[in-house]
Amino acid sequence: MKNKIFRIKKLKSKRKLVCLTAYSKPIAKILDKHCDIILMGDSIATAFYGMKNTKSISLSTMVNHSLAVKRGIKKSVFVFDMPNNTYRNFNQAKKNAKEIIKKVGCDAIKIESNGKNFKIISRLVDIGIPVMGHIGYTPQFKKKFNVSGIKKREEEKLIEESKKIEKAGAFSIVLECVAERVAKKITSLISIPTIGIGSSKFCDGQILVTDDLLGLSGFYPKFVKKYLNLGRAIDKSIGKFRQDVIKGKFPKKINAY
Ligand code: KIV
Repeated sequence: MKNKIFRIKKLKSKRKLVCLTAYSKPIAKILDKHCDIILMGDSIATAFYGMKNTKSISLSTMVNHSLAVKRGIKKSVFVFDMPNNTYRNFNQAKKNAKEIIKKVGCDAIKIESNGKNFKIISRLVDIGIPVMGHIGYTPQFKKKFNVSGIKKREEEKLIEESKKIEKAGAFSIVLECVAERVAKKITSLISIPTIGIGSSKFCDGQILVTDDLLGLSGFYPKFVKKYLNLGRAIDKSIGKFRQDVIKGKFPKKINAY
């Protein structure tokens, strides 16, 4: 576990890190061939379960999906995204993180920054739990979507926040919807990899929600590149199946026993 994390840190400024989310074994198995980091993201709430936001996905639901994801991973670093209200203080964070690692066998956990929880990160790191930070747009703590770092005052706050997370011992930080200029500055100022989502090419790596890039979630903000329209492909296939069943074209003799 420690070697895999060390390798991620060492890749900073050597090559870009490739990171994606997975919620199931078949997807994790495909991603594992291509990714450095696979995240069991709390984005499962919106992308998979169709919830209005990520705030009410339960820890047990995330653990169940993680068990499936883990079965598809051989080499990538597997990060578990701590859901809302599971790390409000150190004791709660420690209890939940230890339980998650024991049950799931993930390599690290991710914690969204609320601008105050640096001590929780440092104490988790002290007891041997690798932590990924998350700044900028942090859906668990924000009411509305916003891009961070446009105003000068926000720039200073983000830089300070990233330095505190680095000092707390996190092995990497997700920058979500951080203005390009600030993402570039943070990436050059800290020694741990920055993983961008909607935060420009000036990050050490990139992450997207897999369902978004496959065209399955119906969520396409400008920072998402849709590599496939899987929603349309599924729609077409299911339409064909319907026609085949109605016309008696399926099943054929070769599909029968
Ligand atoms: O839950 C998630 O998918 C995330 C990414 C957006 C980084 O936190």
